[in-house]
Amino acid sequence: MSTVGKAGLEDVVVSTSDICFIDGREGRLLYRGFDIDDLVEQSSFEEVVFLLWQGHLPTRKELDAHVKAIRATANRKLPPKMIAILRALPRKTTPMEVVRTGVSALSAFDPDAADNSRDASIRKAMRVTAQLPTLVAAWERIRRGKAPIAPNPKLSTAANFLYMMTGKKPTPLAEQTFDVALTLHADHEFNASTFAARVTAATLSDLHSAIVAAIGALKGPLHGGANEQVMLMVEKIGSPERAESFIKKALAEKARIMGFGHRVYRVEDPRAKHLRRLASELGQQVGDMSAVRILDTVGREVTAEKKIYPNVDLYSGAAYAAMGIPTDQFTPIFAMSRVAGWIAHVLEQHANNRLIRPRSEYTGPTRATYVPIEQR
Ligand SMILES: CC(C)(COP(=O)(O)OP(=O)(O)OC[C@H]1O[C@@H](n2cnc3c(N)ncnc32)[C@H](O)[C@@H]1OP(=O)(O)O)[C@@H](O)C(=O)NCCC(=O)NCCS
Repeated sequence: MSTVGKAGLEDVVVSTSDICFIDGREGRLLYRGFDIDDLVEQSSFEEVVFLLWQGHLPTRKELDAHVKAIRATANRKLPPKMIAILRALPRKTTPMEVVRTGVSALSAFDPDAADNSRDASIRKAMRVTAQLPTLVAAWERIRRGKAPIAPNPKLSTAANFLYMMTGKKPTPLAEQTFDVALTLHADHEFNASTFAARVTAATLSDLHSAIVAAIGALKGPLHGGANEQVMLMVEKIGSPERAESFIKKALAEKARIMGFGHRVYRVEDPRAKHLRRLASELGQQVGDMSAVRILDTVGREVTAEKKIYPNVDLYSGAAYAAMGIPTDQFTPIFAMSRVAGWIAHVLEQHANNRLIRPRSEYTGPTRATYVPIEQR
């Protein structure tokens, strides 16, 4: 009898973890025990990074030191040779390819690259988390033939990224929206990219390698790539009046609608409501609510027809688009946030490691006879 579980490791519990809890029936998400609804209200992405890595909320003194480090130019800036590498890439290189290549290259400049001790990993963690927004923004500028903008240590992670992308300091609403988006994407238990990071870390490979593995997994449209696909769908639909017929037709053709469904949640993803609210506030600020209105109709139709609910990727893109961010940068933004969770998981894996090496149930032949090439 087969011992294989459901396809895709569904419902398989592979390890204990103290980092993140998802209640898929109640639609709750906790980081280190704290409900994301409370973190969205009262915390910030930078504090959440500390929480995920250290396992507790920081004291004022701890938070000040952490924020200073994560905003420090020494941690945020890219080595000049890294900028030269970016300039050498073909302009058509997609932002996710740049993120994957960039993190891999950054390890070559990192003085602690091969050191897996917790202290060295925290130093590397701080650098790579601070460098990622600079990398994403630098590529946006370079591919448009513009010079990258240097990070500003006075600005938060959210505000600094928007400043480096656009050259303008963001409005308070844009900064707050972006900060909440980063907070909401920071961790999500054993999702595909985090699992890829843990599998890599469990070979006693280093932090950068684990993050590169995770980026590769995040890139796919069934995972982080979904937010870009949602925006492409919005563009295809074009106007709110066309949304209902578009979705009815797509569902009749058995199409998979991006931004819906989840392996764990059986109800609406608790992150979606925050992103809808923020996308709609930003839409009002910039005087364009059409993406949100299209998505509201799409949401109603898909839920009514298929009984599946919006996930984190449905409204995030509408918020980013209202800030003027190009669609193919949405998944890199996901990586800028989720890197915090990947790192927390690598630290946890390294603290109590055993190689992750499952089995497959072999279904091929067992007594094949080798036939010499001239007789085949
Ligand atoms: C996230 C996702 C990959 C989870 O998939 P899963 O747990 O493997 O679920 P399955 O793909 O087995 O889907 C189960 C059923 O729901 C349907 N379904 C799931 N998500 C769907 C979607 N987004 N659109 C249409 N139908 C969907 C499947 O067609 C399947 O129906 P069937 O049993 O009639 O064939 C899936 O919901 C999906 O592809 N969503 C779109 C991509 C996305 O938004 N990803 C981001 C996740 S945060």
